[in-house]
Order: sequence, then structure tokens, then C-alpha cells
Amino acid sequence: MSRPADLSALAQCWTDALAAWAIPPHIVDAATRDPWMLPVLCFSGRADRAVNDPAGVSFERAAEALRENPGSVLDVGAGAGAASLPLAAWATTITAVDGKAPMLEAFAERAAAAGVDHREVLGSWPAAAADVVPHDVVVVHHVVYNVADIVPFLGALDAKAKRRVVLELPPHHPLSWMNPLWKQFHGVDRPVVPIAGDLVEILGAMDVADLRTDYWQQFDPAAADGSDSESLDERSALVAQRLCLSEAREPDVAAALTDIDPGYHRDVVTISWTPGSASRNGTHR
Ligand SMILES: C[S@@+](CC[C@H](N)C(=O)[O-])C[C@H]1O[C@@H](n2cnc3c(N)ncnc32)[C@H](O)[C@@H]1O
Repeated sequence: MSRPADLSALAQCWTDALAAWAIPPHIVDAATRDPWMLPVLCFSGRADRAVNDPAGVSFERAAEALRENPGSVLDVGAGAGAASLPLAAWATTITAVDGKAPMLEAFAERAAAAGVDHREVLGSWPAAAADVVPHDVVVVHHVVYNVADIVPFLGALDAKAKRRVVLELPPHHPLSWMNPLWKQFHGVDRPVVPIAGDLVEILGAMDVADLRTDYWQQFDPAAADGSDSESLDERSALVAQRLCLSEAREPDVAAALTDIDPGYHRDVVTISWTPGSASRNGTHR
């Protein structure tokens, strides 16, 4: 039986690759602000744009599992609900799981405005799965590059889904676009792995059913630097913080950002599968 060995080797590569994203101690120790901070405003803006204009492969994959027969939706790492709230028209209820209370507050406010039944679970997945019943569709957008121990995380998604799991992530680590800035401001080379393909391999080794991977581009006016903010001042402030630079360096960062022009399309990957197998294969439960 080579599969379990393959899976554990692939999972270890994922863990090691993410560990390499730690900021070198001499830089992070000198920082006055948290470089890993996740601004709630960015994610509430994302959720609002997603609700106003529901579109894209991830939305379609989830919606097609609900349109004919509405059902419950579980949003893991929900933020303000960008993955689940666009599905509200066909959702009998939406459960949001997130490790950060302000994100869940932003989600609850928007779910109430959408008039959909909702529940919030504060906690870290997969531990929080103990407080969640299976839902028809599980969505998890832009979370996995944060998850070092990936197999139990994926196994718990599978175990809590009845019809489909839809996972969205960028093809590369979401902060890899900043690698040239790390070189410019600190002279350090940042990692280039893991990538979405590594996750697809892990799911393949878990033997999930109907595994499907779509690479596509999402129009997003805030995609220009991955910060999810629209003004250059806001982007420069956040990017300086992420680079462990002081407020005084924000004008330098603004100048560097204007040299980077990724346009208004964000590369994204949608991975979906039919639940059941990962749990049966002993990776969860
Ligand atoms: C980059 S945001 C994405 C939010 C939302 N899914 C979206 O697409 O806009 C990642 C979110 O996942 C949450 N998160 C990260 N790891 C988590 C975990 N293991 N369990 C629960 N929440 C997690 C963070 O607190 C954050 O709100």
C-alpha cells in the first residue's frame, strides 16, 4: 500500500513549505506592527463585492449543487462571508466558522441583511468541526495557505459535507506577489512554494471522489496588489506593515507599488469534490 506513505510525504512537503514563509527573526523582531494582520475591512469589502456581483467558477460550482434543491452551506474560514453569502438565495442556512470574532461579526451583519438564517462558530478548523453538523455544501475560500496540518483540515471538510466541497485558492501563496518587495526592502529571497497543484496532489492521494480543478481569472478592481484595498495610500500602509517597515517608509512602498502593475485580474483556482471518500479512507473520523 503506497498511498498512505505518499500522502504523508506530500503533507509533510506542504507543512515544510509553509514553515519557510516565517519572516526571518532579525526582521520580524524589529517590526513595530504585526505583519500577518488580516484587516476585517478588506474581507468585508470582498464579501460586499461578491454579493453585489455573484460570479466565477467557485460560485457556479457551489450554486449548481444548491439551485435545484436548496440546502445548508458551511463556510470555513468565512471572513465576512465572500464565499457563502452569494449563495444566500438557495441556502436554507449558512454556518460561518472563523478563528477571529471580528470576522464573524462582519459575516453576521451581512447574513442578517441578506435575510438568510445563519449561525457563527468561533474556532479553528478542524477542531471547530466538533461543533458543526454536516451541511449540504462546504465552501472554503482563501484559507489553506494558512493551514500547516493540511490533511486533517481537508478530511474534516469532507466529513462535514453532504453534496460538494468547493475550495478556492490562488495558484501561488497569496503574498508571493510581494517577493520582489522583500528583495528590494530587505534583500531577502522569499519562498515560491507551496502551490495550488500541491494541494491537488494531496487530495488525489486522499482519493477524494470527482476531484475537479479549474484554473481561471477573476475580475477584481482591488486585485492590483493583492491587498484588497482600493486606494494607493491604504495599499501602501498595509504593504509596509506586511514588509515589517515603519509608517515613515510608506511613500517608498507607494513608489514601488506603482511599478508593479498586475492589472485587475486575479488568478484563482477552484477545487471541488464529492464528499465521502476522504473520511472513509481513514483521514478523518
Ligand atoms: C484570507 S481570509 C478569507 C476570508 C473569506 N473566506 C474570503 O474569501 O474572503 C482567511 C480567513 O480564514 C480564517 N482562518 C484561517 N485559518 C483558519 C482555521 N484554521 N480555522 C478557522 N478560520 C481560519 C481567518 O481568520 C480569516 O478570516
